[in-house]
Amino acid sequence: MTSMEATRPLRVLQLTDPHLMASVDGALLGVNTRDSLNAVIAEVLKSRGQPDLILATGDLAQDGSEEAYRVLGDRLGVFDCGSAWLAGNHDHVEPLTKAAARHGADRRQIIQGGWQFILLDSSVPGKVFGELSESELDFLAQALAQHPDLPALVTLHHHPVDIGADWMREIGLRNREDFWQVIDRFPQVKIVLWGHIHQTHEQQRNGVQLLATPSTCIQFASGSRKFSVEDLAPGYRWFELQASGNFTTEVGRALDFEFELDQNSSGY
Ligand SMILES: [Fe+2]
Repeated sequence: MTSMEATRPLRVLQLTDPHLMASVDGALLGVNTRDSLNAVIAEVLKSRGQPDLILATGDLAQDGSEEAYRVLGDRLGVFDCGSAWLAGNHDHVEPLTKAAARHGADRRQIIQGGWQFILLDSSVPGKVFGELSESELDFLAQALAQHPDLPALVTLHHHPVDIGADWMREIGLRNREDFWQVIDRFPQVKIVLWGHIHQTHEQQRNGVQLLATPSTCIQFASGSRKFSVEDLAPGYRWFELQASGNFTTEVGRALDFEFELDQNSSGY
């Protein structure tokens, strides 16, 4: 290994809430979700190049179809690195798990670049809100106890804090106090990352950077009382992680993607 390679940060790409569908024409509020994912991936390759790891943080399918997961695996094939897939409220766990296993994307604990990545399943079948089961919380605590010296990024689909949007208050992580009780025991946790809210969100909590990311399809208006969408381009999040625990992160968008958003929808 050259000295440059030894110091190069780990590049991690987060893609979230692609809401893919079985039909090639599948659209959410007028936005074709395959086309918008393609646009985001093209933008990543153009402006960032190849990542070292991809985190796909839920609502991978809108309809839970096998075809949607097949399409995701196919699209991610343009990247040279591995990925890890999480379930969101729109996903169907069985076909997702099967497809993820075929792509080696069913890993829930990853050690790479001097970091530990922990993926938690907060999905509850048939519900929009999230919850972490006792076994997920145990898994989190065990993984963190196993590698106290590695900076950690913990990711899940649902928001574990209030994000200042009334209609999203009831659809976040329900048992968030249980989650934070575990996180608070492990000072090596640097980042908690989620999807679900289809918007950029950044805040600090006890020295942990909390982050959420635009969807690769439609965006929800921030700070809104009722469901509402915003005419913003599909996006992704990019991380550069140093083994020291230092990191930088940025949201990027496919600004040249053309779409006509149905602003009058009352839900998705
Ligand atoms: Fe979503």
